[in-house]
Amino acid sequence: MPVEVVADGHDHSVAEAVNDRSYAETFLVVAEPTPASLLSARRLARLAATQRSPRVVVVANKVRGQYDAERVAQRTGLPCVGAVPYDPGVEDADRAGRAVLDCDPDGAMATAVRSLVPGPQHRDGARVKLAVVGKGGSGKTTTSAVLARTRSGRRTLALDCDSDPNLGISLGLLGQLSLPDQVVIADFEAGLGTILRLEGHPVDVVVVEPSAKSLDVGRRAADSVREADLAGWWLPQTVRDLDDAARVRAAFPYLEPVLVPEDSAIVNAEREGTAPLDAAADAPAIRALVGLANDVVNTG
Ligand SMILES: Nc1ncnc2c1ncn2[C@@H]1O[C@H](COP(=O)(O)OP(=O)(O)OP(=O)(O)O)[C@@H](O)[C@H]1O
Ligand SMILES: [Mg+2]
Repeated sequence: MPVEVVADGHDHSVAEAVNDRSYAETFLVVAEPTPASLLSARRLARLAATQRSPRVVVVANKVRGQYDAERVAQRTGLPCVGAVPYDPGVEDADRAGRAVLDCDPDGAMATAVRSLVPGPQHRDGARVKLAVVGKGGSGKTTTSAVLARTRSGRRTLALDCDSDPNLGISLGLLGQLSLPDQVVIADFEAGLGTILRLEGHPVDVVVVEPSAKSLDVGRRAADSVREADLAGWWLPQTVRDLDDAARVRAAFPYLEPVLVPEDSAIVNAEREGTAPLDAAADAPAIRALVGLANDVVNTG
């Protein structure tokens, strides 16, 4: 199984993902030999039995005895591609906030998961998109991290698809994103959910359109950020005319907005599937966004 894209999933993503081939070609269910974990795995197997379903396999994790892996295979009805022993070293690595591969590269967990990735001589050259799914706590993140770092010479993209992300820690990146000279940009989902969960971490940019609904959501987002007592934010909007700009300024009298004009260059780039910055670097909207980027990076 050559690995190229490894996605650490979460329970809720499974139902949509299993029927969408573009999301992943192989689903790796991580299952503990417990009734609750096996029940989740069976539900997933049933979903996979529907039309257009991709390949679904199971890894038995936290295996303690010789019958555990057999039990996982039997109860899920899925091909069991590996048995990962219960390994106290995994919890030690978690406590230290380090990757299992850094703490104990030859330990039972690392060795077993590594064996799921074939050496270069067994690869067929096909691209692999692997989604790692399973019940909460079954070991998805730990498994994803070892798989993603066991590259066998392949380029690997590790995606954290959990709404409560922590794959980076298991990959061994704790603290590295706060190093000087690094810029991290996070594109949030629509609405306020993530902002409300941020608990005081900085939010720099709130994007609104000059419509009543969008201004209302933007106002609530900016208020949440202000409540967290943060130093500064920018507010780009897509504006068509001076009325739009005035409407936005009235809604946010305490902010100095960055005004991004409505621009066909962005629509065209989207149609072509290209980056607007590549397609039309001199377009007015792109220039406004580049100005915003420079402000955020220089001030932040
Ligand atoms: N083989 C193993 N041996 C011992 N402990 C393990 C093993 N695999 C995972 N664990 C422990 O199980 C717990 C859950 O692991 P992990 O975070 O990888 O699961 P998860 O499925 O990603 O959880 P969540 O659903 O919360 O995202 C952690 O405390 C981890 O240390
Ligand atoms: Mg996880």
